[in-house]
Amino acid sequence: MSVVNSHSPQGPKPLVYQTLRFRDELQEKLDAAFHIVFPDSTELESRRGEIVGLIPDQIVDAKFLDQFPNLKVIGNNGVGCDHIDIAACKARGVRVGNTPGVLADATADMAFTLLLASARRIVEGDAIAKDPSTESFDPHWFGYEVSNSTLGIVGMGDIGTKIAKRALGFGMKILYNKRRRQEESVERALSAEYYPSLLEMLPKCDFLVLVIPGTRENDKMFSTKEFKAMKRSGILVNVGRGSVVDQEALHAALVDGTIAAAGVDVTSPEPLPRDHPLLKLPNLTISPHRGSATLPTRLKMIQLVIDNILCGLEGEPLVCEVHS
Ligand code: 8YV
Repeated sequence: MSVVNSHSPQGPKPLVYQTLRFRDELQEKLDAAFHIVFPDSTELESRRGEIVGLIPDQIVDAKFLDQFPNLKVIGNNGVGCDHIDIAACKARGVRVGNTPGVLADATADMAFTLLLASARRIVEGDAIAKDPSTESFDPHWFGYEVSNSTLGIVGMGDIGTKIAKRALGFGMKILYNKRRRQEESVERALSAEYYPSLLEMLPKCDFLVLVIPGTRENDKMFSTKEFKAMKRSGILVNVGRGSVVDQEALHAALVDGTIAAAGVDVTSPEPLPRDHPLLKLPNLTISPHRGSATLPTRLKMIQLVIDNILCGLEGEPLVCEVHS
């Protein structure tokens, strides 16, 4: 059987290995574009050599790549590629595409959801309001003011910028920390003040949102020193990767009142072990990595996954290519 990479509607569909089946609305799009092979497909072994595309949801290292000798392109369904060994892909001539931009609004919405929920203690309040033993509401039970407060954003890319736009609607003052300073026009549009030093920015923030990728350099970069630099009324939100926060330090900071609360869409690992001490804290709100999980956003992501794979098979530049 011949492997045809052309995406002409007449030609046989390229074989793509997909480690996890998606919801029907998304899977149908992939099935229309490719001949999908799943880990439990009976044809996996006999057609392994024909597989030219990969849509992974798991670690892709050299050992994994070596199982697919003719792999040409990976279409990652997300921005973060911390689970993919890019150097190993490069060494094998496998190109890697991801899906930035299209998920920025949904992820910024999630950051704000967690910020508001943590500030106004929505999850705790919901439990009190529904508790069969509740007879009256405690009049001394307060949350933290969001409107007109100061927001620090670590990582002012697509998502960080969208978070800042939302914050303007709440009258928030915006500070940001980023390796490379944003253009002046972006800073002006967001009234955002640049802090090259994270430690200098932290004491000024009522809320701090982390939107940075999970790289080796970022591993546990937010730890005891950073928590201690925050206000005691400060609230941390993380929608990037769990690995950038030292979770032991987060636990200590939330228990001893170094910071007031945290809201995270990401942890390390995911999910946390069921007996993890973080799961017992009332001032921590966790969402199960749902930043981009709305149907319109996931449909746009899937289209990018398809386009990236097709471009890779045609030898064209990917729509969004990951180089390092
Ligand atoms: C994805 C994400 O939804 O883009 C990312 O890096 O973390 C999420 O938006 C996730 O990778 C699931 O595929």
